[in-house]
Amino acid sequence: MKMTREQRYRRIEQAEPGEIGKLEALISACPWRQHYHIQPITGLLNDPNGFSYYQEYYHLFYQWFPLGTEHGMKYWYHTRSTDLVHWEEVGIGIQPGDTYDSHGAYSGSAIEKDGQLNLLYTGNTRDEDWIRHSYQCLAIMDESGSITKVHQPVISEVPSGYTEHFRDPKVWQQGDTYYCVIGAQRVDETGCTVLYRSSDLRNWTFLGEIHTGLPNFGYMWECPDYMEMQGKGVLIFSPQGIESQGDEYQNIFQSGYLIGEPLDLQTRHFEHGSFQELDRGFDFYAPQTMQAPDGRRILVGWMGLPDLEYPTDKSGWAHCLTIPRQLSLREGKLIQQPVSEMVKLRGNSEGTHMEFTLDHENRSFADFAGMAYELECEIRDLDAGVVGIELRASAEEKTVLQYDRLSQKVILDRSQSGATLAEQNGNVRHCTLNADVLKFHIFVDSSSVEIFVNDGEEVFTSRIFPSKDSTEIRFFAHGGKAGFQASKWDY
Ligand code: FRU
Repeated sequence: MKMTREQRYRRIEQAEPGEIGKLEALISACPWRQHYHIQPITGLLNDPNGFSYYQEYYHLFYQWFPLGTEHGMKYWYHTRSTDLVHWEEVGIGIQPGDTYDSHGAYSGSAIEKDGQLNLLYTGNTRDEDWIRHSYQCLAIMDESGSITKVHQPVISEVPSGYTEHFRDPKVWQQGDTYYCVIGAQRVDETGCTVLYRSSDLRNWTFLGEIHTGLPNFGYMWECPDYMEMQGKGVLIFSPQGIESQGDEYQNIFQSGYLIGEPLDLQTRHFEHGSFQELDRGFDFYAPQTMQAPDGRRILVGWMGLPDLEYPTDKSGWAHCLTIPRQLSLREGKLIQQPVSEMVKLRGNSEGTHMEFTLDHENRSFADFAGMAYELECEIRDLDAGVVGIELRASAEEKTVLQYDRLSQKVILDRSQSGATLAEQNGNVRHCTLNADVLKFHIFVDSSSVEIFVNDGEEVFTSRIFPSKDSTEIRFFAHGGKAGFQASKWDY
């Protein structure tokens, strides 16, 4: 049953007696709880926030509505890790409900200054007429881990020319100066990103819009993130309101990037190539990056999308975060690879390895199966027309990953993956890949797959909701032969 607005905008302490216990009981009986992904303890998780490294820990917060699976009163929930793969649940990071975040502590980012971690976030408020007012707020985490809000917002006005859809500050430092990008909507209801500057993180100067070659690209740009890598500037954002076009923009909302010359901070001109989607799967949105102490640029995304119902809603929780990915640039494209620390999750560290040829057939192997594992598969000597793998398979269910040599497309089909969702947006996703050898690096969990294709050239991230018994892995080559090499590690 849908919650009323009043129910959605409650804080934890306003829960009915027994309400949270009921959610917890539903959740503990849910077959789709993940094994190694960050997921909400109760209720709904959305964007990753405040992804940073401070005091020997990676910190990763997420947008959280504790009391249900709809979007309501948002908190920041705090997790931390020393290795990017084992995450500890710390507890509430930012609690909403004060004057400037009365209706939610919305997305934002973190940066260390003077030995403290500064959390810059959007305070979402609604007035008596339910009109939105946005503030950019600051909270400070000290060495002991305690987080205190700064009482006054650090940006309290939306500049003229923009609507109250003005949120998600992402901060970075260049020399002695701090900059932040904010996702915005112009009064003509087109999306864009604006830029601010500060010398102390408290007083911010509005510099103006980032001038891109996309003046009319959707009605709102959420969660912008700007970084420089390998001498280039990269602007990641999540535009809303883009029509699907061939294989592109198939999900309800998109997430992608522009690569160009480093942003000119004086003129705010950004010379860039075309918008490219970050992920080809069904469930990916609002990613955020951070720079690790060793210089790697690491991205985590929300493995979900707004405005859709998911099969776990009935079990009192929704969504999870993706595994962390290391970014690099190759030939005008962002390459995404699982972070090397993922090997720490390998239970049987030697793994199981196989080499075989398939000729017009499907094949599975005893004990080469599972529900939470890492699978590497290389397919070469392609003579077959279609080759691929069925994951989480049984007599009734399968999630099919395949390469069609004729159309040169990688295809992910979740039409038979188990419980269905968002079918209005289709059950199949494709992308073009021109390759003689295919490499699939796959991370399967109870209710998700993350598939890295040809060393991170493409990624397909998707939730799937199979039954617990669907654990087979089947390889296939149709219309000819192909050579397979597969390795699997249990998680
Ligand atoms: C993106 C988003 C952000 C906002 C947050 C609220 O998913 O809509 O723009 O800050 O979620 O939870």
